[in-house]
Amino acid sequence: MTGAGISAESGLPTFRGKDGLWEDQPVQEVATPRGFARDPALVWRFYSARRAAADSARPNAAHLALAELERSMGDRFLLATQNVDGLHQAAGSERVIELHGSLWRTRCSRCQRPSFEDRRYPVAPPLPVCDVCTEPGVDAALLRPAIVWFEEMLDPDDQGEVVRFLRRADAERAPLLFLAIGTSGIVYPAAAYVRYAKELGAGTWLANLERPENDWAFDHVVEGPATAVVPAMLGLAGS
Ligand code: OAD
Repeated sequence: MTGAGISAESGLPTFRGKDGLWEDQPVQEVATPRGFARDPALVWRFYSARRAAADSARPNAAHLALAELERSMGDRFLLATQNVDGLHQAAGSERVIELHGSLWRTRCSRCQRPSFEDRRYPVAPPLPVCDVCTEPGVDAALLRPAIVWFEEMLDPDDQGEVVRFLRRADAERAPLLFLAIGTSGIVYPAAAYVRYAKELGAGTWLANLERPENDWAFDHVVEGPATAVVPAMLGLAGS
């Protein structure tokens, strides 16, 4: 399970703490459906800036170490990320669940059309509108970033996949190891997976710059920057 801390050394700011994204941009303005209804141009400017930052960022040694681990473990490995930057996939990870959506996808704010890949950078009106549910000239539905905002539900299929994976290990009596990297453990339900894994007998590890909110849920906490700690933990130091 990864959070914003794993991408910090790729140059992408985390959310909380000093210089965090939520420092100068209140969450409710840019990361809630109400914020989007109030000022969609502000929201698009925020996410277009994040698209641009993610586009110029490159995966770091921690992302690469997880991709290498997946290559050796195959389907006994699953990566659930709260990140929306696409850096795990850029590093070569394939078994990735993007719990909070993706910066690189857009969806309709009104209809249920599936989200689609979108590398545009809207910043000001006219903002992009849905060509599926909008009739020309009538009651336009705006497109929006396919991010799971506060007050919204995670995709039940994504949650189901994480839970199925953990249960499968339990059913097969396979040793289970839960490793969280670079996450403050504040945002649920992502922060609860460690507890569920623990109930199923998992050994629980955390690699983080500092002790997080939910540190009691971990058997082992290794403090330090992800690019140093993660490759070393996985026995890939120097690779
Ligand atoms: P946070 O910003 O809450 O926490 C990032 C964590 O990473 C902190 O505990 C830092 O100490 C740690 N950290 C910073 N730099 C690090 C480094 N180089 N190596 C290791 N750890 C480092 O980010 P998340 O936990 O990912 O949701 O936040 C969870 C969710 O809250 C996000 O997905 C986002 C946010 O609101 C949405 O936008 C929907």
